[in-house]
Amino acid sequence: MSPRKMLLPGVIALILSACGGKAPEPTPAATPAPAPVEQPAAPAQTAPIAEDVPAPAADVAAPAPAAAAAAPAVVSGCATTIESNDAMKYNADSITVPSSCAQFTITLKHAGTLPVGAMGHNLVVAKAADMNGIAADGMAVTPDHLKAGDTRVIAHTRMIGGGESASVTFDVAKLKDGGPFKFFCTFPGHLAVMQGSLQVG
Ligand code: CO
Repeated sequence: MSPRKMLLPGVIALILSACGGKAPEPTPAATPAPAPVEQPAAPAQTAPIAEDVPAPAADVAAPAPAAAAAAPAVVSGCATTIESNDAMKYNADSITVPSSCAQFTITLKHAGTLPVGAMGHNLVVAKAADMNGIAADGMAVTPDHLKAGDTRVIAHTRMIGGGESASVTFDVAKLKDGGPFKFFCTFPGHLAVMQGSLQVG
């Protein structure tokens, strides 16, 4: 064999390999488009803090202003109406029962729309010292959240929901000793914010 012939197979192999399998073209790495730089949010405008305007000194003879904030209940004759709402509030924090009344009537209105099972309100009258015990013992009692025959209760309306109202009339003589007295709601969780003082004046 001549040296040329011996080289030939190698040359052919080189040519084949050069022309053979095309190497896959390198795909350019997908470069993610740069994310748009987010503009920092403008600092939130701070709402001006409303100054606490002290309420004017209570003028006993003046009618209570519109029912926005809790205030002494407006008593007309031997009756008053207390409004409650979906925000768990009474519109009065004090009831003064005229000493000239033999009986006194309290009407509770629920100006909200929530059902009694979600935002029920009642109005219970009792000695301040009995308030927590009455509410605790009535906690699990539905729907009125008052223990049956609770003798510490001086008077109470039924438990009402949005749009309803209920009244209770009681002998003022029951308030003549043993005070101070309170009026309050026994719906679970409401006592802390739904209470006010009640006295004979
Ligand atoms: Co309530």
